[in-house]
Amino acid sequence: MPRDTLSITDNRTGKTYEVPITHDTIRATDLRQIKVNPADFGMVSYDPAFNNTASCISRVTYIDGDAGILRYRGYPIEELAEKSTYLETAYLLLHGELPTEAQLKDWTYHVTHHTFIHESIKKFLDGFHYDAHPMGMLISTIAALSTFYDDAKDIFNAESRKKQTFRLIGKMPTLAAFTYRHNLGMPFVYPDNDLSYPGNFLNMLFKTSESKYRPNPVLERALDVLFILHADHEQNCSANTIRGVGSSHVDPYSATAAAIAALYGPLHGGANEEVVHMLNEIGSVAKVPDFIKRVKAGETRLMGFGHRVYKNYDPRARIIKKIAYDVFDLMGKSPLLEIALECERIALEDDYFVKRKLYPNVDFYTGLIYQSMGFPMTMFPVLFAIPRTSGWIAQWEEMLLDSEQKIARPRQIYLGHDTRSYIPMEART
Ligand code: ACO
Repeated sequence: MPRDTLSITDNRTGKTYEVPITHDTIRATDLRQIKVNPADFGMVSYDPAFNNTASCISRVTYIDGDAGILRYRGYPIEELAEKSTYLETAYLLLHGELPTEAQLKDWTYHVTHHTFIHESIKKFLDGFHYDAHPMGMLISTIAALSTFYDDAKDIFNAESRKKQTFRLIGKMPTLAAFTYRHNLGMPFVYPDNDLSYPGNFLNMLFKTSESKYRPNPVLERALDVLFILHADHEQNCSANTIRGVGSSHVDPYSATAAAIAALYGPLHGGANEEVVHMLNEIGSVAKVPDFIKRVKAGETRLMGFGHRVYKNYDPRARIIKKIAYDVFDLMGKSPLLEIALECERIALEDDYFVKRKLYPNVDFYTGLIYQSMGFPMTMFPVLFAIPRTSGWIAQWEEMLLDSEQKIARPRQIYLGHDTRSYIPMEART
């Protein structure tokens, strides 16, 4: 008679244990009963980098990496990219349902009316070198927001969380644009509440002497779709970070700053910058085969390829490839596009990549689009951090309200020295 349990026989003792299976999962703590002696700590599972460990129950985002499926709250990413806006998608991620017309209006109003930042943050930004990396500035200024909003510490108050959410989603583009203007030595441009979320971001980035900035609708929509595609991606490195840091019950600004720091790494949100460096290094289509040889020899990686979860074409990469052409039609083709296409063509046919299921990920083409839109490479991860804020907050809130969650604290397998006596300096070799 089939049962939803797993029987485990410990061959050290010959004992058999039966543990329940729920959602194809066993609880790691059920392994603790497996002991040789009653005084033993009990069995633990070892899973560096969480390759096969679920750290939470989530209802936000679903990915099927083998099938190349991504859904936010059940809605396929392709449909959202075609029909939704970033702000509507952010509402969906945070509230679990698409908003009614009135809810969307209210949500947009509140996000839009939290875009201004305290003037002191400008002074704070002025302290950075002219060439400071915008991600470093963004991490610092987001963390600094916690010093302005003391009410943010009240994390179990739903009203407070709502307010910090408006602030975080509203202020992120402002801070991001200010870091860009700081690098250029140009005056900061204040938010324009008449414009859409991406339109206002473009305004704060690129407005010069015109009295009213009017964003190009193609770029505005392209940016909005890119924001939708980057809004969440379940338990990735930065989502895991915000959950882990947030589990100490720190305020959401400090937790978001930690998530941005995680995103900054070249194996995560920094990958799109690395793709452009790589394409520049390759230099020409003719040199692609040689580069691929080096990748296969293990000397370097094909950046923008491969993913911990997707073992198929990243569904976001397909949509992004289309946006790339919309932007190139307007702004001119990136000279690196041909090199990227050749890398993709060879990699998709090559046994090394096919065997390892390495396909283009979201970062393979975004760098080229951002470059064509006029962004410097240092801004690429910032463009990822802005939309990911809604996903981070959705993950953070879900963690906070989950009664099973506690402060994140993994176990270790200690293989260091056993106890030993202190050696005085003169006796050390
Ligand atoms: N180029 C060449 N080989 C690769 C690549 C790559 N981009 N990615 C993985 N491999 C190879 C590895 O060398 C390894 O080969 P082996 O089995 O012979 O040792 C095999 O494929 C498995 O690789 P892992 O590193 O074990 O895969 P993991 O799931 O840990 O890594 C990661 C995923 C970090 C994304 C990896 O594919 C990578 O470094 N890609 C390049 C960086 C990148 O594009 N990152 C962006 C990810 S998307 C995002 O964060 C938004």
